[in-house]
Amino acid sequence: MSRYLDIAKEKFEKLKDKKDVIILSIESSCDETAVAVVKNGRDVLANVVATQIEIHKRFGGVVPEVASRNHILAISSCSQEALKEANLETKDIDAIAVTYGAGLIGALLVGVNFAKTLAYMLELPLIAVSHVHGHISANYISHKDLTPPFVCLMVSGGHTAILKVEDYCQIDLVGSTVDDSVGECFDKVARVLGLSYPGGPNIDKLAKNGKNVIKFNYHEPFRDSYNFSFSGLKTAVVNFVHNAEQKGEIIEKENIACSFQEIVTQELAEKVMRYLKETGEKKLVLAGGVGANSRLREKLTTFCEKNDVKLYLPILKYCTDNAAMIGSMAFYYLKNGIGLADLSLTGKPNVDITLNTKKSW
Ligand code: KG4
Ligand code: ZN
Repeated sequence: MSRYLDIAKEKFEKLKDKKDVIILSIESSCDETAVAVVKNGRDVLANVVATQIEIHKRFGGVVPEVASRNHILAISSCSQEALKEANLETKDIDAIAVTYGAGLIGALLVGVNFAKTLAYMLELPLIAVSHVHGHISANYISHKDLTPPFVCLMVSGGHTAILKVEDYCQIDLVGSTVDDSVGECFDKVARVLGLSYPGGPNIDKLAKNGKNVIKFNYHEPFRDSYNFSFSGLKTAVVNFVHNAEQKGEIIEKENIACSFQEIVTQELAEKVMRYLKETGEKKLVLAGGVGANSRLREKLTTFCEKNDVKLYLPILKYCTDNAAMIGSMAFYYLKNGIGLADLSLTGKPNVDITLNTKKSW
């Protein structure tokens, strides 16, 4: 075993019982270069996000190679800025955390290699965190009172699922999409409507001026299961727009955005609500980038009020990609004795959405 790993293991074990644990966390899975400093999984001492949205806008979506190159340019200054914002030095840091997946492989590798270098240089434990678990943790930094167990509706660019979070590191799958994620669906519909990247927030904005008057031609799937399917709806909206264009009809973008958003948010809200009712669960947590959607937040709020369910909505800045959520989840991995990585750690395009304390890295 290498000298580094011996030291990292020993420090990792000691941190389980340390009173205050300060983690420097790194996130580079898509188009945000982010570094944060988080204390005890809940207090965000620094949260630096260098977004590449403007760079990718002219391509209509994230170009993986461009994303990787820009992560390389930004990552070092982001980590210096984070330490400065936290008013700390490297000697004050107890561990380094990094998103190792899911995401764009080239983009992930920038963060992973930077984190490995820092961990090796500073002789600190390296904690490999799943991006999707980070999205759940965004709620621990948003709500100091939130503790498991709870039900989580995970709606990101990469995942759409209902999860049962039994404990910080015990996450079970109730149902998930069998094809597209809801974020992909928002982005594709936005694109066909000629809206700029990222599509989701622009659909959300446009829908506010529209009416739910358009009926798309598609079959509603999975009435009786907790799984989702969005590809049929996505294709129906795309066909609707193309047909209208071919006939030279006026494209009522606002109404299309509104009608599409109503269907998607209804499907998400209804399904998770049905699960809550059937199981008698009383706590619901929203997670992931699409969790910023105003209509989804509205619908969940109304349902939860009616049904005496306590709803936790992540603060908007922690909804979309950031490193604070990664530092938060890393703390709970650490306290449960999981996630310690060695210097062979690499990025993974896909990772398991479920979690338990027997998981090996
Ligand atoms: O969670 P996230 O930042 O990335 C992944 O982990 O995949 O989610 C990004 C997704 C994009 O598809 C984006 O269009 C969508 O979240 N999104 C929204 C809104 N804000 C971001 N979708 C609908 N309404 C929004 N307000
Ligand atoms: Zn994300």
